[in-house]
Amino acid sequence: MDGLFKNPFNRSGADGAGAGSPEPAGKKRRTVLVKELRERDRRRMLKHFLALDDSDRLLRFGTVLPDEQVEAYVARIDFSRDTVYGVYNRMFKLVAVGHLAFAPKEQSPGKVVTEKDRVAEFGVSVSKSARGLGMGSKLFERAAIRCRNQDVDTLYMHCLSSNQVMMRIARKAGMEIEREYGEADAYLRLLPANPASMLQEAIEEQVAKIDYTWKANARAAARLFSFKK
Ligand SMILES: CC(C)(COP(=O)(O)OP(=O)(O)OC[C@H]1O[C@@H](n2cnc3c(N)ncnc32)[C@H](O)[C@@H]1OP(=O)(O)O)[C@@H](O)C(=O)NCCC(=O)NCCS
Repeated sequence: MDGLFKNPFNRSGADGAGAGSPEPAGKKRRTVLVKELRERDRRRMLKHFLALDDSDRLLRFGTVLPDEQVEAYVARIDFSRDTVYGVYNRMFKLVAVGHLAFAPKEQSPGKVVTEKDRVAEFGVSVSKSARGLGMGSKLFERAAIRCRNQDVDTLYMHCLSSNQVMMRIARKAGMEIEREYGEADAYLRLLPANPASMLQEAIEEQVAKIDYTWKANARAAARLFSFKK
């Protein structure tokens, strides 16, 4: 498949979002293309979450969710209310998922003071093989831009305070972090939307869509050719 189809956005290693030349030794940061997921991605989302081991499920959900509850969580995701982001690798495998859930401010999970109608909560997971490539950070960044453009000024994240990587992402973003009993609540105050934030979101989604279509078609074609042989 490699020689036949060359994705113009493919520039990083096997599990990189835009992979071209393999980089097995030491993972290099490259462009991460984050796409909004839809109903048709639900099956792949489930596969991604079910592949998380117990320690990752604990970090992601705050408890070691058994498979049935993971299935129920994925089945409940409402794409018309929330925004779910994903990163597909060059083999068209979903390797990262970020769930941005919106809720009325009265139902805010934390001690949030805002004049806006809604707040947002973000949860993220990256497959083990794709970690350290900047996907977690990029998913968070996309979620923050979405909040701005949706007139939401408070982005909230709950995680274990032992989760060094997530703490790093939160600190990098300038989040205010409150720790209690081994858990941490992180808040980000966001600026209002402006033409640049609107344009950034639109362009990033457009580029990710083209990349997604390319990878989906390449995968379908590869399957067809291997079937015909
Ligand atoms: C947390 C998680 C999403 C991070 O994904 P990722 O794609 O590997 O993250 P990134 O590549 O963007 O790296 C984030 C930062 O953490 C840093 N980091 C990596 N390992 C670290 C460690 N052990 N200690 C401190 N910082 C670390 C990275 O260097 C990077 O910082 P930089 O950009 O300044 O270099 C991923 O580890 C994961 O899925 N964990 C299990 C689920 C989870 O914890 N979810 C979060 C709960 S909401």
